[in-house]
Amino acid sequence: MANKEDIFKKVISHAKEYGYVFQSSEIYDGLSAVYDYAQNGAELKKNIREYWWRAMVQLNKNIVGIDAAIFMHPTTWKASGHVDAFNDPLIDNKDSKKRYRADVLVEDYTAKIEAKIEKEVKKAAKRFGDAFDKSQFLATNGRVVEYQKKINTILKRLGSSLEKEDLADVKALIEELGIVCPVSGSKNWTDVKQFNLMFGTKLGASADSAMDLYLRPETAQGIFVNFLNVQKTGRMKIPFGIAQTGKAFRNEIVARQFIFRMREFEQMEMQFFVKPGSQKEWYEAWKENRMKWHLSLGMGEENYRFHDHEKLAHYADAAADIEFRFPFGFKELEGIHSRTDFDLSAHEEHSGKKLQYFDHEENKNYVPYVVETSIGLDRMFLAVFSHSLKEEVLENNTTRTVLKLPAVLAPTKAAVLPLVKKDGLPEIAHQIVDDLKWDFNVTYDEKDAVGRRYRRQDAVGTPFCITVDHQTKEDNTVTIRHRDTMEQRRVPIAEVNELIAKEVDMKSWLGKM
Ligand code: GAP
Repeated sequence: MANKEDIFKKVISHAKEYGYVFQSSEIYDGLSAVYDYAQNGAELKKNIREYWWRAMVQLNKNIVGIDAAIFMHPTTWKASGHVDAFNDPLIDNKDSKKRYRADVLVEDYTAKIEAKIEKEVKKAAKRFGDAFDKSQFLATNGRVVEYQKKINTILKRLGSSLEKEDLADVKALIEELGIVCPVSGSKNWTDVKQFNLMFGTKLGASADSAMDLYLRPETAQGIFVNFLNVQKTGRMKIPFGIAQTGKAFRNEIVARQFIFRMREFEQMEMQFFVKPGSQKEWYEAWKENRMKWHLSLGMGEENYRFHDHEKLAHYADAAADIEFRFPFGFKELEGIHSRTDFDLSAHEEHSGKKLQYFDHEENKNYVPYVVETSIGLDRMFLAVFSHSLKEEVLENNTTRTVLKLPAVLAPTKAAVLPLVKKDGLPEIAHQIVDDLKWDFNVTYDEKDAVGRRYRRQDAVGTPFCITVDHQTKEDNTVTIRHRDTMEQRRVPIAEVNELIAKEVDMKSWLGKM
């Protein structure tokens, strides 16, 4: 695989070819930034959701899960600030007529400087070998220090202009940096304007009585409006959390990165309600906890980093992203936000209902503070999928395409393959499938030579292949082949279930947290 663009193209085509992700309504040429999950994609997505739910809800005594409706009373969005402030700054290029997010244009510019830093690091690492100290190099190399200073200055100015809604300065920054339209190559920009990202719709049968509604742009508000219901019926004591997963909708200005930025997507969010004053402590604790969850999947510590926000959302007093190294560079995967009492207080004000907690220890009522963890399920899918896709050169100089998904998340855990389609081998293989299917998602495949079948399962990400051959008839053993090592072992059929369980069991993966 060559450059970043080629790798990303390969990810997208592999996702389609192996039944993971299809473009929505493809027969009508698709719908921009809307995707469908296919037979394997739906399983991978379900497994990621389950991995999150177990870690957040099942493993925490003080966190419960809900499933709120997508439609909410429209005042919800007035109170949350989304009607007035859920905007992105857009800019058009007059020559190409293409529309961009002004902040993304600037961030793409700084990403290019960052790529230069990475290049310098790679060069130095090669030069110094084992003696290379990356953090010392970053802090002392003159060229790298200058690059980093430039990035910081640009992002600081962008952050403060957006904070002050000084859109003229955002445009001035784009012009000063000499940013050109990637399509026309020109610097012929319009002014920067704000664009609200919420989708509107109507509730009701007749035109005059219909009520204007929004499709929720985040799932979090369904948790806030239910805070007191859950607290009372669940007799929850602060600190406690409410989690949920579900669809969210945003009319994104630019949506060019496959399932990274979609108009319909799924979030996995948790609001943790805490005593005012303790939010900083909980914010740090959740940052650490969430990073541990990511690392438990074994996708490499070097592929994650924290990014503290310069520009805080209208509701936050601290915020950080967990960024992941996607094929197109480090980008936000999850957000951890200290949301203060902004949402609950705003809902109190707009609904006229008290949303307070009576603290028996303190003997007083208060509006709790909230620390939120919010991750996009589709973005997590892309992180896992793109990281797992490898092209390997084998000893005999052939290549194989293998999807090295963490086994716990793989859609199908094992494929059962009769060596030939006769001599009673298919019957034994079907029996093994019937025995295993109660515990795992397994598949049966008898078409083509066994080597080709192995390759097919490698490409789809199945961790184990179980082959039934003539010896099986004699001694009830099969070969079990491991996707990552390609090693094959002969084992009794009776041990297969346990061998698979050992590697795919959520308990042992989550236990690494
Ligand atoms: N409740 C807080 C909230 O929604 P956010 O940073 O806007 O915060 C949280 O979104 C997460 O949702 C992001 O980190 C990202 O993973 C995911 N996300 C946001 N917009 C998305 C989009 N258009 N497509 C896919 N995922 C998205």
